[in-house]
Amino acid sequence: MRFIFFDFMSKIISIANQKGGVGKTTTAINVSSLVAAAEKRTLLVDIDPQANSSSGLSITNHNPSVYEVLIGKEDATDIIIDSYMPYLDLLPSSINLVGAEVEIVDVERREFMLRDAIAGIKDKYDYIFIDCPPSLGLLTLNSLAASDSVLIPVQCEYFALEGLGQLLNTINIVKQHYNPKLSIEGVLLTMFDTRLRLSHQVAEEVRKYFGDKVYETVINRNVRISEAPSYGKPIILYDAISTGAKNYMAFTNELLERNNNKVKS
Ligand SMILES: Nc1ncnc2c1ncn2[C@@H]1O[C@H](COP(=O)(O)OP(=O)(O)OP(=O)(O)O)[C@@H](O)[C@H]1O
Ligand SMILES: [Mg+2]
Repeated sequence: MRFIFFDFMSKIISIANQKGGVGKTTTAINVSSLVAAAEKRTLLVDIDPQANSSSGLSITNHNPSVYEVLIGKEDATDIIIDSYMPYLDLLPSSINLVGAEVEIVDVERREFMLRDAIAGIKDKYDYIFIDCPPSLGLLTLNSLAASDSVLIPVQCEYFALEGLGQLLNTINIVKQHYNPKLSIEGVLLTMFDTRLRLSHQVAEEVRKYFGDKVYETVINRNVRISEAPSYGKPIILYDAISTGAKNYMAFTNELLERNNNKVKS
């Protein structure tokens, strides 16, 4: 008799922080592209009505979108699109999602709409990343309820730690009520400026608070990173030798290593 062991189950990672502009979308686009480049079947779910992850991969105003999938009007399979990168698919967002938080307030199992919507397709992927909006509303709750873990980008700026207590509180509430297996994937320091004492201070404080949950790799402030989305490209395809590309490669390596999944070399 022969046994076939599958050494992989799909892992769903929310990228969340209710603070705006901390690098959630930048991280979502770049980590999913790089995990895909390591030949892991990857899906990026854009659940932010701003749809920045979608436009960052050249997909704009895609209708129907994750909104119709969320409300059960469309099957995820029919809405997921191939990105132009092998191994990377996208479940795009659109501005229609803006009303969703209000519309689904009275729906039964409203916190589980995303989990239910992607249940049928999750095993097609090794990694699913979800780019959350900058709030702790129903869209983020849906994302956390559907995930195995949360990746928290923290900007190396004033007030970096502000609001993190509230995020951790929300994660605990989700664990208690909707998703006991939810864990913290890790904390990623973003927009680090080596020349600024403040950046070093913030990094130190975040490491003191979160210990080894914080990745060794920090993402430097790098203008090439901020240019890439306007070309609809992840940094690795926009400028592969930039500091930003190197940072995101090192970070992705760390993330995969923590999940025992070395990048193919
Ligand atoms: N390492 C970096 N270096 C320079 N600019 C960066 C870096 N990371 C992100 N940015 C820029 O900072 C801005 C905010 O980043 P991003 O959109 O990724 O944050 P966000 O947390 O997704 O924002 P929101 O909360 O609005 O969804 C963007 O203009 C982005 O291009
Ligand atoms: Mg964003």
